[in-house]
Amino acid sequence: MSNATTWRSGWDVDNPLGIETGAVAKDEGTWEPLAGTGLESRDLGLEANTGGGLLGRHVRSAGNGEDAATDWQFTDTDFHWFFVLEGEITIATEDDEKVTLGKWASAYHPPYWRHRVLSVSPDYQALEVIGPSAYETTVGEDAPKPERAAEFAHLKGVYTLDTEDQYARGDGPRAWSLYRDLGTRIPTDGRIHIHIIKLDEERPSPKGGTGDHTHSMAQFFYPIQGWIDISTEGQENRRYYAGDFVMLQRGTIHNAYDASPDYATIELCVPADYTTVAQ
Ligand SMILES: [Fe+2]
Repeated sequence: MSNATTWRSGWDVDNPLGIETGAVAKDEGTWEPLAGTGLESRDLGLEANTGGGLLGRHVRSAGNGEDAATDWQFTDTDFHWFFVLEGEITIATEDDEKVTLGKWASAYHPPYWRHRVLSVSPDYQALEVIGPSAYETTVGEDAPKPERAAEFAHLKGVYTLDTEDQYARGDGPRAWSLYRDLGTRIPTDGRIHIHIIKLDEERPSPKGGTGDHTHSMAQFFYPIQGWIDISTEGQENRRYYAGDFVMLQRGTIHNAYDASPDYATIELCVPADYTTVAQ
């Protein structure tokens, strides 16, 4: 892509990141303190399955959340995104905005976006995705940004809230699902699309599910409500619940053959535009 920004990670839509197939269950992994944040996190295996291209973690308040306020800071990440699962977080941004994000709100931060955390609630929990997994944080309200930051200066933080008007019905065979775009496609130059897919309880899906199919994108999905039954090439059929983290490499045959009527999931797609082929 000619007008695309250059990522430290070195991948783009023509040479997209791969995500190896695998899963980390909601009760797997150990909670470890996130230095200097008042939070703790559980690794979701994304770093291992992308060779460090992306890091995925389940984050929550450690203790009562009182120590979560941070100084002004920015990172040299290509991509930083989080989604609030429970509770709320309030941040301040370099645009003098103060943003409070509650349940199912999302935040995208471009490279070198200066911000600070003002507070998190004791019950705060989030899904966070960072790329690449190795990055540096620079602290200080007046800390100078490197020359490279100019390439990203046109980008702003993108914050989305979970309101009904944010959902759109899918087309054709997807008409029984509602989709909420979480705003990462444009600022990542088409590298990463993240959305919520939610079944419409008023219009139940036809029985039989999606049938075997493949995508030209690599993905992860992270159910946030209900459950889904999936068969995946080379793996045993499994039921995934809210909190399970599931990665699928592009080209992997799979079939979502059943789901609870209230099923909702986060899905991340690399690249944002892709084709789906029935098998
Ligand atoms: Fe699929």
